[in-house]
Amino acid sequence: MTAENFIPQQAISPKTEGEITWQSPSNIALVKYWGKYNKQLPKNTSLSFTLNNCLTTTTLEFEKKAAKNTTFSVEVFLDKERTEAFEPKIITFFERIEQYLPFLKNYHFKIFTHNSFPHSSGIASSASGMSALALCLLTMEKEVDKKMTEDFFYKKASFLARLGSGSAARSIQGPLVLWGKHDAIKSSSNLFGTLCTTEIHKVFKTYQDTILLVDKGEKKVSSSVGHNLMHNHPFAIQRFEQAQDNIEKLIAILESGNLEDFIELVESEALTLHAMMMTSHPYFVLMKPNTLAIIHKVWDFREKMGVKLCFTLDAGANVHLLYPEKEKTKVLDFIKTQLVAHCQNEQYICDEVGYGAKQLVSQS
Ligand code: PMV
Repeated sequence: MTAENFIPQQAISPKTEGEITWQSPSNIALVKYWGKYNKQLPKNTSLSFTLNNCLTTTTLEFEKKAAKNTTFSVEVFLDKERTEAFEPKIITFFERIEQYLPFLKNYHFKIFTHNSFPHSSGIASSASGMSALALCLLTMEKEVDKKMTEDFFYKKASFLARLGSGSAARSIQGPLVLWGKHDAIKSSSNLFGTLCTTEIHKVFKTYQDTILLVDKGEKKVSSSVGHNLMHNHPFAIQRFEQAQDNIEKLIAILESGNLEDFIELVESEALTLHAMMMTSHPYFVLMKPNTLAIIHKVWDFREKMGVKLCFTLDAGANVHLLYPEKEKTKVLDFIKTQLVAHCQNEQYICDEVGYGAKQLVSQS
């Protein structure tokens, strides 16, 4: 498929007014996306667990304008409060997706959004947020295009979400989503994420992710700036090749359920992501002393207790602890007794593998 496949062939004329609500999950990458080109296209394939509890719920209210005009018209409400600071980002998103949803300028939109996780938790809301908004907007088209298949709907939703935030492409379906062309995987694409169709071992179907909130502050370096630093990065080519290899290794691990290999690959990916940041120009460090303290305690605990617990990191100081469901009691006890001291206000979020976005019936 090419991007042109997502341009409607005929004029789309959605209803005059209405409202649509979607709830979308966040995701955590096991093989990381770091480096992009053109319009949010990834330099390597990534693979993520979809989450279940870290969610954005977005209601899109739309009303056709009396006269067709040439500007976008959007109001954004975060937790029912008008939040004008978010509006330029949404306008930029609309500019990027307009050719694929050509009716956008004909409507006035009110976007009501709520995150299940604390706003300043350091957990990016862009993946779940852009996914929920893309799904709402595409549903306007789907309501009038009865012939749109489910497969096309999910691909286009992921394609649109990607144009808002790269990793949002992986926040449409679940439990495992692959994004980025891989020579060994026929259905893979740079344009959108697809469900990883491999027959995964049952241990991964209920895998746990407890997110330790180490630093809830604003990120010093945005992920956009970070991605761009992969251009001319001295280790970029090797990193992109390594990620492609790791995708194949990870898929085999997901099938076999080999947790030792899973731990080694996932932790190496997390540290490699941060190593790329530390070796770019300019260089930067997003881990905090508490991030490292947690990592060392996880290694000690694993060695002493034989519990198959590992960590991963995204572009920040927070630590995601990944483990099989049957280890939940032991791991939560370990967190409460040894790790909360390293979390801001002792905060952590219990999440687990989830199965994708859901359309909700509007309340009114
Ligand atoms: O979607 P972005 O542009 O915020 O990039 C996210 C990048 C990482 O979270 C660090 C890795 C990933 O694959 O999600």
